Amino acid sequence: MKPPLSEEATDRSLYPRLAARLPLGVIGRAFYPFHSLGSTQDIAGRLAAEGAPEGTVVVADYQTRGRGRLGRSWSAEARANLLVSVLLRPQVPLARLPQLSLVAAVACAEAIREFSGLAVGIQWPNDLLFAGRKVAGILSESTMRSGKIDYAVVGIGVNVNQADFPGEIRDTATSLALELGTRVDREGLLDALLSALDRWYRVFAGEGGGFPPVRDAWRRLSVTLGAEVSASGRKGVALDLDEDGALVVLVGSGEQIRVLCGELQ
Ligand code: BTN
Repeated sequence: MKPPLSEEATDRSLYPRLAARLPLGVIGRAFYPFHSLGSTQDIAGRLAAEGAPEGTVVVADYQTRGRGRLGRSWSAEARANLLVSVLLRPQVPLARLPQLSLVAAVACAEAIREFSGLAVGIQWPNDLLFAGRKVAGILSESTMRSGKIDYAVVGIGVNVNQADFPGEIRDTATSLALELGTRVDREGLLDALLSALDRWYRVFAGEGGGFPPVRDAWRRLSVTLGAEVSASGRKGVALDLDEDGALVVLVGSGEQIRVLCGELQ
């Protein structure tokens, strides 16, 4: 039998300043920092199955099998970026699940703006861009039980200090350090990120009004609204974020379509 993860390869000396401040509220009730692992998503999922509390955080300096949305891989230089997964157990109807990654996008954008001063924006649904290049991505994966959300693992990858990107994403990705011209304190940024996620998750989960305040913040931070987009094979202008998190697009024929998942081309 595998030993519980708490006895495996975590290194408690990583992120000491942050560890001393946890839990922040809901987020950080358990904390698993790793030097290297396959994917923080897998470890967080395994912890969830072992009964880990909501707010459990898994962070790694390096991933050998990091994954992104839509079946893509997510690679990052060792010790350069933030690679973090957070276990959540939202007690909300299943239909609200897509909103969770928008919550994470708002938290991530706010934290990066506050911590680094870079005015990153959100490209629907949850990519963070600076000057048109991707700085961070979010992957939300969930498990159901009896038609209800059992748990969700929200994975966030932020390009913090990476100085170079592989050929296929060299023109579309950037890092905070490349944009600022100076290295960024990853531990401080992780603290800002988890603190923002703690605030926004509690707003979303009910204490602070549910999704409407998140939607307002998303609209404020969006670089998609008002832009020409191509979604589900149709071109148009992004008009709004609907109450359920769908993107409303005005297409050429004058018709308004709603896009609930996928990405913009
Ligand atoms: C995307 O933009 O495609 C989402 C990228 C999500 C990457 C993060 S890094 C931490 C967590 N672990 C993973 O394997 N993926 C997510």
